[in-house]
Amino acid sequence: PALIIPSRGWLQAASPVDWYAEMRANAPVYFDEERNAYDVFSYEDVQRVLSDYANFSSQRQGEELTSQSIINMDPPKHMKYRQLVAQAFTPKAIDALAPRISEIAKELLDEVADQPEFDIIRDFSYPLPVIVIAEMLGVPNQDREKFKHWSDIVVKGVDFEAGETIEQNLALRHTVTQELGAYFAEVIQSRAIEPKNDLITALLAAEVDGEKLTVPELLGFAFLLLVAGNETTTNLIGNTMQSLLEHPEIWEHLVREPGLLPSAIEEGLRFRSPAQSMNRFTTQEVEIGGVVIPAGAEVIAWIGSANRDDAKFVKAEQFVIDRSPNPHIAFGNGPHFCLGAPLARLEGRIAMQALIERFPQMKLKQDAKLSIGLSPIVSGLKRLPVTI
Ligand code: HEM
Repeated sequence: PALIIPSRGWLQAASPVDWYAEMRANAPVYFDEERNAYDVFSYEDVQRVLSDYANFSSQRQGEELTSQSIINMDPPKHMKYRQLVAQAFTPKAIDALAPRISEIAKELLDEVADQPEFDIIRDFSYPLPVIVIAEMLGVPNQDREKFKHWSDIVVKGVDFEAGETIEQNLALRHTVTQELGAYFAEVIQSRAIEPKNDLITALLAAEVDGEKLTVPELLGFAFLLLVAGNETTTNLIGNTMQSLLEHPEIWEHLVREPGLLPSAIEEGLRFRSPAQSMNRFTTQEVEIGGVVIPAGAEVIAWIGSANRDDAKFVKAEQFVIDRSPNPHIAFGNGPHFCLGAPLARLEGRIAMQALIERFPQMKLKQDAKLSIGLSPIVSGLKRLPVTI
């Protein structure tokens, strides 16, 4: 698996947002010698890097099992595979999940309702997407805990705080990748014999121009769903709740006017984007923002910075829950636009609706220590304790 090395600027700034603002003003396209990569910060340039696949390629060595998946392909190959998996991931299929997602959200909140306080991340926004994706894939109930454990390790970074080394982390992830791969392979085999009403069965049946996914391709896609969909959705809920609760008057406004929830979620996506950056590799020498980048260079598109660019957004530094229009690019831009966006938005809406109805008096815990994870890609709090 690839290791992601944060830039020194990102690590040293008091907050990434300050670093982004400084870079947009002084070096909007910046070559970082230490990481041997080009950082891109303005809305316009980030949007271009994400979508101009002729110059900025997505072909990269990914995680062992996801290296052959759509997120690492360029058109025209990307188009064919995306059409295949999209057949099983239609907005209609996603909408049908709403009642079940509500039930899961309710069950999770039932468990904390008689306590004076709980942790929005640990008790709610972390388990929710894992349960949803497990059910979609058709993981039976008795395997749920095992599955949760595996998918947690697949996405988690090195836990330096707990004394874990990079080597230990790589070894653990390698083992878990093998186990989860073997597990999925079994589920795929059993659905091939006995189809059910789940995503694996739909993926086995999907066809474009008479061609189907092979078993390794299907496996790669199932893995991609875990890597791309779980922590991001956890952070969509966590980051948006953090922004709301930091300003109790905004939370109260939303409780009074829950019709604002969809636009509050879009603003949450913009203001604290769950995916802060995505990378590409140049296919040839290319000029962007007045800087000439050589062929074969790594380019980091800072989505988190683009979404705070005041050349694009009025009051970019403010959290405005009824912002309109809100052309954020938290789900990317162009051919790779997040396939899971309808699911993420649905889960976000149902989860937050449940929090509003259940705990309208909720407050950030007074002495809460909000520690943010250190990943420059997937950004969110590890804990968000609240009193209810
Ligand atoms: C792609 C963000 C939730 C599945 C992407 C990309 C972004 C993104 C920025 C573009 C990657 C690129 O350009 O290289 C997010 C955010 C989410 C979220 C912020 C939550 C708030 C999900 C969920 C799923 C999912 C829930 C599925 C269960 C995917 C897939 C791709 C993707 C399969 C690859 C699409 C392609 O390459 O054509 N996501 N995502 N995402 N996302 Fe999401």
